[in-house]
Amino acid sequence: MTTEAPGGSDEALRADALAGLTARPKTMPPKWCYDEHGSRLFERITRLPEYYLTRAETEILAARAPRIAADTAARSLIELGSGSSAKSRLLIDAMTALDAYVPVDVDPAVLRAAAAALRRDRPGLTVQPVVGDFQDRLRLDRFARPRLVAFLGSTVGNLLPDERVRFLNRIGDAFEPGDALLLGVDLVKDPATLIAAYDDAEGVTAAFNRNLLAVLNRRLGADFDPRDFAHTAVWDPGRERIEMRLRAHRALTVKLPALGLAIHFDEGEDLLTETSAKFRRESLEPELAAAGLRPRRWWTDAAGRFALSLTVKAG
Ligand code: AVJ
Repeated sequence: MTTEAPGGSDEALRADALAGLTARPKTMPPKWCYDEHGSRLFERITRLPEYYLTRAETEILAARAPRIAADTAARSLIELGSGSSAKSRLLIDAMTALDAYVPVDVDPAVLRAAAAALRRDRPGLTVQPVVGDFQDRLRLDRFARPRLVAFLGSTVGNLLPDERVRFLNRIGDAFEPGDALLLGVDLVKDPATLIAAYDDAEGVTAAFNRNLLAVLNRRLGADFDPRDFAHTAVWDPGRERIEMRLRAHRALTVKLPALGLAIHFDEGEDLLTETSAKFRRESLEPELAAAGLRPRRWWTDAAGRFALSLTVKAG
């Protein structure tokens, strides 16, 4: 697991940049934001006063981890998009039947650090990190049953609706009876609270968003000047999602030698860097059920901002 580049290979980045920067609107998959600097910025985001998601989810996990452990009796915990693995600690501590923890993340540096810390603190636990995208094929056969797949932080919100349906179906298909999915989702709420969470006063989210341009400069030899772009967070009330964009202050052309391309931005033109869907129980649970995942629990934090859904593959 050690040598891969954050987010994926240069070849995969070139393919995504070619497709995304020539599309309308221009768009880039958010996973490329998570190089070492981007992962550090994201960790800072999780501690911002406006970014309630991580605290709300941690509150639920702290209260419900013993219930989750009892309901699933899981021997393997596979965590998609594990990052620092801070939240999974709460689960791991409660899961007495656990043999193996499998963190999956696109940033190999973050994964290495998390695995080393866990091995130190939990000598009896097998830690098997996997560098990869949460959308990669899920190979569960090597892990002891029953399995718990955890996908926390509302990262599932990065998927578009059709991508999300395919993703949930792939999990349902990979599961055997008794395997469970723990899904953390941010809930629809007033737009001001949502927008503030993605446009904080300190500007950490803006720096995180602009870091994508630094990644394209470093890895593809592009010549983006991050100062040419404004960070914006927009709430789309119809699709119930936040969109993070980088908006060109002026008309400009960026060269991407690795692609043999020059990309023109009009003044005010946006590069869409992340969509973050917000959820409702009444629409999400039917989606899970349609993927063969039977709703078992739905917990929210006391303020009702965030939810943890536990679903189980029927026998
Ligand atoms: C890691 C995808 C869940 O959408 O809330 C936070 C990423 N981007 N602030 C989110 C993010 C800007 C985050 N996820």
